[in-house]
Amino acid sequence: MTAAIRVERLAKAFRGRATRSDWVRWRRPTPVRALNGIDLTVDRGQLVALVGPNGAGKTTLLKILATLVRPSSGRAWVDGVDVAARPHAARSRVGYVLAEERSFFWRISVRENLRFFAALQGLFGAERRHRIEALTALVGLTEVIDRRFSDLSLGQRQRVAIARGLLADPPVVLFDEATRSLDPGRAARLRRVIRQTLVESAGKAVLFATHDLDEARALADRVVLMVDGQVLAEGGFEALSPRLTAVFDAEAKAEDEALYRLFPDLMSPPATRRSAGDGGSSG
Ligand SMILES: Nc1ncnc2c1ncn2[C@@H]1O[C@H](COP(=O)(O)OP(=O)(O)OP(=O)(O)O)[C@@H](O)[C@H]1O
Ligand SMILES: [Mg+2]
Repeated sequence: MTAAIRVERLAKAFRGRATRSDWVRWRRPTPVRALNGIDLTVDRGQLVALVGPNGAGKTTLLKILATLVRPSSGRAWVDGVDVAARPHAARSRVGYVLAEERSFFWRISVRENLRFFAALQGLFGAERRHRIEALTALVGLTEVIDRRFSDLSLGQRQRVAIARGLLADPPVVLFDEATRSLDPGRAARLRRVIRQTLVESAGKAVLFATHDLDEARALADRVVLMVDGQVLAEGGFEALSPRLTAVFDAEAKAEDEALYRLFPDLMSPPATRRSAGDGGSSG
């Protein structure tokens, strides 16, 4: 059986924008290497959490799988379809909920937005109406369905994005910090929907980027730790826990030192303070 998501030696270098000093020195802008050879497999009925510090490349990986960004080299398949070679075919097999809501139309209503994206995915007529109504009810948006997108709160916009991600009932769903702007009750409910309905009952493959390690622990079958565009480690949460702590502590330590340089009179030197991961229940 083909894996639901397969990624092989995937790399992405963004071209980078020229700065003033590039212009002055007659120099090409430095490319940004967002992904440096990623390998990853997610099977049907599996939920994998993608964790890693800011800039690790999580969003870039999800955007490539969603066919929104083209890889520089390497290959990626969703549901057996190569995302770079057959983006149209790939698109109908993958739903995505990204962290930014810029991809919606701000002047039209929630319903009109969802109708538009449903049509792009080949949904029309009664089936489309039924799906939109069911999904807006699922994410608690029935009350605001005829409101303009621009008038929604941050969390409401996030919920429209969740509804859109599930419109076409795709076998693969990607979530980028999906619970970030949700209130605690809704965040918990979304986690339940993802775990129980999407993964356990419907057997979908879910790749879920999060900064919340408790969320990763609670949700995921497997955790993939990304740093600097590479997979540093992967496995069950408990087994990976020391490496997760090490990566996030190293960043916290560098920033603590900068804070001490800024406020030496107010702070004790970083070396004498306990690091961020100490004293946690997971050790
Ligand atoms: N369109 C772009 N052009 C240039 N560089 C980019 C672009 N998109 C992302 N990058 C760079 O690629 C790297 C990876 O970014 P990405 O958004 O994938 O990280 P991330 O792991 O999602 O981080 P975060 O936790 O902050 O969301 C970063 O250094 C970022 O600045
Ligand atoms: Mg990101």
